[in-house]
Amino acid sequence: MLTGKTFLITGVLMESSIAFHVAKLAQEQGAQVILTSFGRTMKITRTIAKRLPQEAPVIELDVTSEEDLAALAGRIGEHTERLDGVLHSIGFAPEGAFTFLDASWEDVSTAIHVSAYSLKALGVAALPMMSEGGSIVGLTFDASFAWPVYDWMGVAKAAFESTNRYLARDLGPKGVRCNLVAAGPIRTTAAKSIPGFETFENSWDDRAPVGWDVNDPVPTAKACTMLLSDWFPATTGEILHVDGGVHAMGI
Ligand SMILES: NC(=O)c1ccc[n+]([C@@H]2O[C@H](COP(=O)([O-])OP(=O)(O)OC[C@H]3O[C@@H](n4cnc5c(N)ncnc54)[C@H](O)[C@@H]3O)[C@@H](O)[C@H]2O)c1
Repeated sequence: MLTGKTFLITGVLMESSIAFHVAKLAQEQGAQVILTSFGRTMKITRTIAKRLPQEAPVIELDVTSEEDLAALAGRIGEHTERLDGVLHSIGFAPEGAFTFLDASWEDVSTAIHVSAYSLKALGVAALPMMSEGGSIVGLTFDASFAWPVYDWMGVAKAAFESTNRYLARDLGPKGVRCNLVAAGPIRTTAAKSIPGFETFENSWDDRAPVGWDVNDPVPTAKACTMLLSDWFPATTGEILHVDGGVHAMGI
């Protein structure tokens, strides 16, 4: 499905990372992948990159660093002449952002910077490498609702979803599609760092008509891989739910 394609995959931290499974599936479907990581996690990502079917190069990108963003196209250019797509699999909020009424603007602004604005920042930084068009795919947690514990991360995801629509508007004429996958809860490092994450885990499977396994990132990764492929050529600004069907149920 992806022979001859090259993708930039952000967000591989551990083998549990959704991005790891997207990178693995993409390689299995014939693509080349380039990973990003930053700071102290670079070493961990390099180790995890060896567990892919083919070891992938890891380049530095802190998505809040203007310096890294400015250098991104050059760093990608050391490994490939062009990209066919980018996976945004980045999310972070300080602990204070998970207490809605008491959260400081400093904590909230960090959550929005890393988790929402970064989609635009990454898209623009990678754009010079997608001169023949491409696909940008990101991961959200359905921001249509007020969830238990998610708090300002939920607000950041609402901004992220809106950012995806504006990016789709502005990059569509350049041949770049922008879509999100709204995943159900998956036990990753980011999820486990959310205080009270088990609240989601315990009820999701019961509410999902086709069931939901919090330990299985593969259904989510498959949807991301499909959206990166040529199989959604007229789809942009979309949010595809991969949540066992929970979003469509009343109770
Ligand atoms: N796990 C879930 O339940 C779930 C559900 C829906 C959506 N998501 C979303 O999936 C995406 C991937 O998260 P995950 O669950 O695989 O967890 P993860 O912890 O494996 O991945 C999060 C990644 O974000 C990266 N990151 C954080 N700050 C960064 C920065 N400043 N610059 C660059 N990278 C940075 C981390 O290094 C890490 O690789 C996130 O956007 C998350 O919100 C997760």
